Amino acid sequence: MKVLVVGSGGREHTLVWKIAQSPKASKIYCAPGNAGISQQAECVPIKAENIAELICFAQEKEIDLTVVGPEAPLTKGIVDEFEKRNLRIFGPSKDASQLEGSKVFAKEIMLEAGVPTGKCEIFEDSDKATHYIESQPVPIVIKADGLAAGKGVIVAKTKEEALEAIDLIMVKRTFGKAGDRIMIEECLIGEEASILAFCDGESFIPMVSSQDHKAIYDGDMGPNTGGMGAYSTAPVINEHMMETISSKVFQPVINKMKQKGIPYKGVLYAGIMITESGLKVLEFNVRFGDPETQVILPRLKTDLIDIMESCIDGKLNEAGIEWENEAAVCVVIASGGYPGPYKKGEIITGIKQAEQLQDVIVFHAGTALAGKDIVTSGGRVLGITALGANIEQAIDRAYKAVGEIHFNKIYFRSDIADKALKYL
Ligand code: AMP
Ligand code: GLY
Repeated sequence: MKVLVVGSGGREHTLVWKIAQSPKASKIYCAPGNAGISQQAECVPIKAENIAELICFAQEKEIDLTVVGPEAPLTKGIVDEFEKRNLRIFGPSKDASQLEGSKVFAKEIMLEAGVPTGKCEIFEDSDKATHYIESQPVPIVIKADGLAAGKGVIVAKTKEEALEAIDLIMVKRTFGKAGDRIMIEECLIGEEASILAFCDGESFIPMVSSQDHKAIYDGDMGPNTGGMGAYSTAPVINEHMMETISSKVFQPVINKMKQKGIPYKGVLYAGIMITESGLKVLEFNVRFGDPETQVILPRLKTDLIDIMESCIDGKLNEAGIEWENEAAVCVVIASGGYPGPYKKGEIITGIKQAEQLQDVIVFHAGTALAGKDIVTSGGRVLGITALGANIEQAIDRAYKAVGEIHFNKIYFRSDIADKALKYL
C-alpha cells in the first residue's frame, strides 16, 4: 500500500514511524514532513492545509490510504473532498470535525448527550460578556469558539484577566473569526488526562490513557504550550475511571453524532479533568494528540494500518487492538523562548547517540535539514520517547537520552511524568 501522512510535527513522525512497521506499507509519503520524517518517508513540499494539491498528489501517486495529523485540514473538509474522489482517508468529516472546530458545537453535543462537562454561557456580544464577568467568581475560563492554534483558551485568575481575554478575543480579534463567539466556563480543578479512542461511526475502542504537560515551566507554571511532554499510562485513570469514560463520554457522543447524521470516524480525543465531583470533559480534539501520540503508538502492538482501515470500513469490532504493558515517557525539547518568539536554524547534535540508548525513540517536530546538519525550525524541536518496565525506568531512560541532545538555547521541562510517581 502507498500511504500519505499529512502534517509535519512530532505526532506525524510517530504516525510515519508506526505505519512503517506495517508489512502492508510499501511506500510512505509525508506532506510536508520534517528532517526526521524524511529518513522513513518521502517528504513532499505540500502544506497540510492545501487540500487541492494534496488531492492532486494522492491521485497522481495512486495513494491507497491518507492519514491526517492536524485539525486544520480536517475542519476544512479534507476527508469529504478525498471521499468525493474515491480516495481512502482516515479521519472525521468536516461536520464531525466541528467537535474541535467549534467549542460551542462540542458543548451542545455534550449537553444533548448528557456528557459531564463544566457549566458555561455563550456570548456573541462583548458588552454582555463583560457584564456577565462582573457577577462570576474567579478563576474563570474564557474560550474562543473556533480554532486558535491552541491559544484560544484563557484561564483567568482575576476579573481583570478575564476582561482582557474578552477584549483580546472579541474586540482586538486576535484569533480572527474564531472569536465571533466566546464561551465563559466555570474553572474546573483537578488532574487532567487525555483519552483517545479509535472510532468507526458506530463503535469505538479507547487507547491506553496518557497525560500531557501543557505549561512551559516545571510544576505546571507559566503559559500553555502545545505540550511539553507526556506519559502513558496515566494512573489517575484507573480501570473503573476508564469504564466510566467509555460509558459516560465516548458511547453517548458516538451515539449522538450518529443520530444527528454525522457519524464520527477517526480518532476522538477527550481532554478530561478528574475533579472532586467526578470526571468532566474539557474539550474534544478530532485527531491524535501531540505529544500524546509519541507515548501511545510506541505501546501499540497491532498494525495501525489494519486499525485505520477497519475504522474507515465500519468494522472496528473486528480489529482486536493490543497494547504493550510497558510505560512510556516523552520529553519535548524546545527552542528557548517558546511559546513566545525563538530563534530557528540552531545546529542540533547528539540525535544518533540518543537513538542508540535502550528503548529510546527520537521523534522530530520542528527540525529541518541544512546541508548535512539537522537544525531547529520550530518551537517544539524533538520529542524523546523512552519505554520502560515502569514509569520510573521510562523517565530515567528518557532524560538520559535528552542529556545527549545539544543546541544553542535548548529548553525542556525536567519534571515530565513526575505526577505519576505519587501513585506508586
Ligand atoms: P482546551 O483547548 O479546551 O483543551 O483548553 C486548554 C487547556 O486549558 C486545558 O488543557 C486545561 O488545562 C485548560 N482548561 C480548559 N477548560 C478549563 C476549565 N473549564 N477549567 C480549568 N481549566 C481548563
Ligand atoms: N496535546 C494537546 C493536543 O494535542 O491538543
